[in-house]
Amino acid sequence: MNSDELREEFLIFFESKGHKVLPSASLIPNDPQLLFTVAGMVPFKPIFWGKVKPVYTRVATCQKCLRTNDIDNVGRTPRHQTFFEMLGNFSFGDYFKKEAITWAWEFVTKILKLPEERLWVTIYRDDDEAFRIWKDLVGIEEKKIIRMGKETNFWGPAGPTGPCGPCSEIHYFTGSKPSDDCTPESCEEQFLEIWNLVFTEFNQDEEGRLHPLPKKNIDTGAGLERIASAIQNVKSNFETDLFKPVISRIEEVLGVRYGLDERKDISIRVIADHSRAVSFLIADGVFPSNEERGYVLRRILRRAVRHGVLLGAQKPFLHTVNDAVIERMKKVYPELSERRELIMSVTQAEEERFFKTIVQGNEMLKEIMAKSNKKIDGESVFKLYDTYGFPPDIVVDVARENGLEVDLKDFERLMEEQRQKARSARSDIEYAKRTDLYNELAKSFKTIFVGYQTLDCEAEVIFVKDDSSTPEVVFDKTPFYAERGGQVSDVGEVHWNDGSAVVEHVYIPVEGIVAHVLRIKSGQLQKGMKVKLTVDEKRRKATARNHTATHLLHAALKKVLGEHVKQAGSLVAPDRLRFDFTHHQSLTKEQLEKIEDLVNEVILNSLPVIIEEKSYKEAISEGAIALFNEKYGEVVRVVKVPQFSEELCGGTHVENTGNIGLFKIISEFAISAGTRRIEAITGFNSLNYLRDNENLMEKIYERLDASGNDILLKIDGLIEKNNNLNKELQQLRSKLLISQLRQTPSEQINNIKFLHCVFEEIEPNELRNLSDVAVSGESSLVVLLFSVGKDKVNLIVRVTQDLTKKIKAGDIAKQAAQILEGGGGGRPEFAQAGGKNTAKVNQVIEYARKLLQQG
Ligand code: SER
Repeated sequence: MNSDELREEFLIFFESKGHKVLPSASLIPNDPQLLFTVAGMVPFKPIFWGKVKPVYTRVATCQKCLRTNDIDNVGRTPRHQTFFEMLGNFSFGDYFKKEAITWAWEFVTKILKLPEERLWVTIYRDDDEAFRIWKDLVGIEEKKIIRMGKETNFWGPAGPTGPCGPCSEIHYFTGSKPSDDCTPESCEEQFLEIWNLVFTEFNQDEEGRLHPLPKKNIDTGAGLERIASAIQNVKSNFETDLFKPVISRIEEVLGVRYGLDERKDISIRVIADHSRAVSFLIADGVFPSNEERGYVLRRILRRAVRHGVLLGAQKPFLHTVNDAVIERMKKVYPELSERRELIMSVTQAEEERFFKTIVQGNEMLKEIMAKSNKKIDGESVFKLYDTYGFPPDIVVDVARENGLEVDLKDFERLMEEQRQKARSARSDIEYAKRTDLYNELAKSFKTIFVGYQTLDCEAEVIFVKDDSSTPEVVFDKTPFYAERGGQVSDVGEVHWNDGSAVVEHVYIPVEGIVAHVLRIKSGQLQKGMKVKLTVDEKRRKATARNHTATHLLHAALKKVLGEHVKQAGSLVAPDRLRFDFTHHQSLTKEQLEKIEDLVNEVILNSLPVIIEEKSYKEAISEGAIALFNEKYGEVVRVVKVPQFSEELCGGTHVENTGNIGLFKIISEFAISAGTRRIEAITGFNSLNYLRDNENLMEKIYERLDASGNDILLKIDGLIEKNNNLNKELQQLRSKLLISQLRQTPSEQINNIKFLHCVFEEIEPNELRNLSDVAVSGESSLVVLLFSVGKDKVNLIVRVTQDLTKKIKAGDIAKQAAQILEGGGGGRPEFAQAGGKNTAKVNQVIEYARKLLQQG
């Protein structure tokens, strides 16, 4: 059974048991406690928790998951992966242990047909109910039901708090012959956990206390790759059909072979795993950056590239491996093919950046090695890593090639210190902790947003996170718009009795709380203090123009291109707006102009922008556009431009379309297959854009000393003149080279004329022409013509036909190639060589001379 069949069989099986099959959710969870979807249950957490009522009480999925906590083990073991797929059947207060256990067994033994003698089960130490079901209902021998502790047989919560429970697992024996004294507890490494049944019945609070959930649930997790390795009878997940084409691609692009050298195999496995994670993360909208999800992606991507470098890669390759991932997985995850271009180009750009780092680091490493005596100290390795991101394993490799050792112990010590520091800023745990502080606050408090009505207000400090010079502060009310729905946050100022601060960024860490990221100019802020908050009005107004214009653009796109146009992302900033939408072709000039005309018509008609609050149902029935991935409460805000556009939106807008000023599209291009991006400007930005263009035109007119349409004639004239001059230059140059050649005397050796001439870097076809000139009408002549550049040298060897029995141009070229450290060869009368050692030209001449002297 291949993995695609396995995935399908699982879903069909549970569908036949009354489950609704749902598609995989994104790797980016809608969950403030988690950076990534780490298990199949994550999308259903609010249901388990009892916070949301389920539509279906039985669900089955195959979920994309990502875990990075064990990233250092990836590649080194047969099982560790970052990206993986988890099969799961879930019961939300519906069936419980009996059904979950018996169905799991039925699937594993009847559908997958795994031999029973190789299967063991584990249960939580005091779970007698599960014990009885396994023993009496399923009929497993008592000695094959192993009771284990909390460490292994209690799952969750996913995040610092939440649903969790005891679990029971099915383990598959991978050794040669099963025996009673080899159990999942005593010989762990010979067993493969293939199925985890979590009996989700508790909620764990901040102190780690367990409280019964309102309903008992089932959360099953079965790793697709592991099961595939069991049924396909291979040693590791990496040998399953899920990885094979990816590994073949790595072999192809890096010129290596899997299975010959364990050290190289580790690198190949790392690249295979990481290219899957990178492809799926980018497809779900993560881009490399230095923060949170983007940072994790950057780390994974660079780790893969680093292993590529260990295998000899000298230029970006990972995007090509991603291509194999996309091909292998696109049938099940069409988002991969839809965003193929994006996945490839984002990866390649990041690879290029990283390769530059490696080049810089190499330079520094050379200096370090020159100063080192036998051993490179840990501090230098750390500095290379810390400042350039230069990988220590490459240092070790290069050092070894140069007969040096590396003090890795000291490096590790410095790394650990660094990790301690970095953890506070970047790790998943800290991310969760931070949102936890706000979660706690949100229980008893909600920031009041007054920014629709006013741009300044008095407020009270409710909470200050850390006392640095850049604290995050929550006020009881705020006029600051927090970044949301594509609109960037307001900026502005805070003033109080004896101090002030700049508001640099404003965001919503958890629903109901608005956090202000400040830069203190003077004084200090403390809970309870009264302050005055002032939003930067100019910037807010410019942003509002762009936001209303975005709505107009959205409506105009639907009118001009068709109703299939759907918003796929947007950015509303003060200096421009960016709108991504679904459409399969580039827009023609006419279409773009029509869109601009439509939007500007609405602007010039000065229509009022009407904002109303109504129920979600009412708004939708009136035809308002809702974006499927935004969450809306009961009451929604509707932004309407009469007869033209109506959208649900929480953003800030102008009062009248006339306030927008000129709307101008400045670019339109594809960001992935089927998704296009328009960037446009409004208000003063349009004025500045026109001014800049005008200034540029003025300069061009001035330089060309022209006016009106004459300028085009002038430009045509200049181009023609330039072409003619180029031709003339070419002819002169060629004459010059020929005359240099003619003035070069040939040597006479054994009745053979030996002509050699060295030119300063000239084109290969010029060199060839010169060699034609040299031999034309000649006999008994051997010619060596060199073109020497900064770091390369080309050579053409000609031998007149009467001599080719004795002397062959091809032989000379081959020998020359060796001397010049390059390649070469050719026919007896005509041959070429090239190389990088420019200093050895004379040695080649000397070699040829000797050859002729020997006769
Ligand atoms: N949540 C459990 C796991 O991740 C079962 O789905 O293993």
